[in-house]
Amino acid sequence: MSKFKVFIEKSIADEIKEYISQYCDCKFWDYDKKISREELFQELKNVEGLLENGERIDEELLSHAPNLKIVSNSSVGYNNFDLKAMKSRGVMGTNTPYVLDDTVADLVFSLILSTARRVTELDSYVKQGKWNKNDEKNLYGIDVHHTTLGIIGMGRIGRAIAKRAKLGFDMDVLYHNRSRKYDLESELGTKYVSLDTLLIQSDYIVLMTPLTDETEHLIDYKEFDLMKDTAIFINASRGKTVNEEALINALKNKKIFGAGLDVYDVEPVNKDNPLLKMPNVVTLPHIGSATARTRFDMDMRAAKNLVQGITGKIPQDLVPELKSADN
Ligand code: DGY
Repeated sequence: MSKFKVFIEKSIADEIKEYISQYCDCKFWDYDKKISREELFQELKNVEGLLENGERIDEELLSHAPNLKIVSNSSVGYNNFDLKAMKSRGVMGTNTPYVLDDTVADLVFSLILSTARRVTELDSYVKQGKWNKNDEKNLYGIDVHHTTLGIIGMGRIGRAIAKRAKLGFDMDVLYHNRSRKYDLESELGTKYVSLDTLLIQSDYIVLMTPLTDETEHLIDYKEFDLMKDTAIFINASRGKTVNEEALINALKNKKIFGAGLDVYDVEPVNKDNPLLKMPNVVTLPHIGSATARTRFDMDMRAAKNLVQGITGKIPQDLVPELKSADN
């Protein structure tokens, strides 16, 4: 029996390759360099499945892939999907929820702590031989424990952050979300508030909302103006949920104390981006879920979604917008 043809655009573990190969005739992109759009179009000519990470799946790409049935993202975010184009061509799209929640929540906390306590700034200070006993007061940071954390976007990752904040750091947790999470409110005492109230009252503001048409530039000049001048802003969602110019303006003009960023408007971030020169900004290269174990679990989940879709099943992580009334 001839197998289904699939293209795997990212490097994955041998064990996962073997799993997919049981069901599919696979081609792997095993080069160190990222595949170009043109190269990808070539690879998609005859395939029925694609496993990838963050490729723009739009009308242009789909027009080069007439047999494509499923695109399996190895990420929880799926803002790379043009849902309308995929729907109109009947192409399924999946993501990898659940397996990365705690890993991303850990990273968010490392951004909170390192920004508040100036960890990366002071690490370079020591390594550059600048440590001077008389300098102590210039090294002060701000407390994390017993302060107020505001989480925008209370999904599974938001919950994992709230748990760490409440149980580990005795923080009061405010949240803003499309829907209320009553179970979380009774479990952890988190408080649902309007976006403005959250921005006004929080010491730490964590943006975790997915990027959609509604959330693009959710945090803009007006929102930074509402924040405390001692606030720390953390973004581990997608860069475009924030107007980056407004963020730079807020930091330059000391409207907020600092920022911890894992995501940017353009990635990899431009070398000239002023955020990279600011000592009160901790910058990471979009590594929210990047531990070896979690990335393996994400790739395996993506592989299972791919195989399910290609073999005629409804994949377990078919994204809600692409579900039809009967699945
Ligand atoms: C995700 O899974 O969406 C993370 O941001 C990694 O891309």
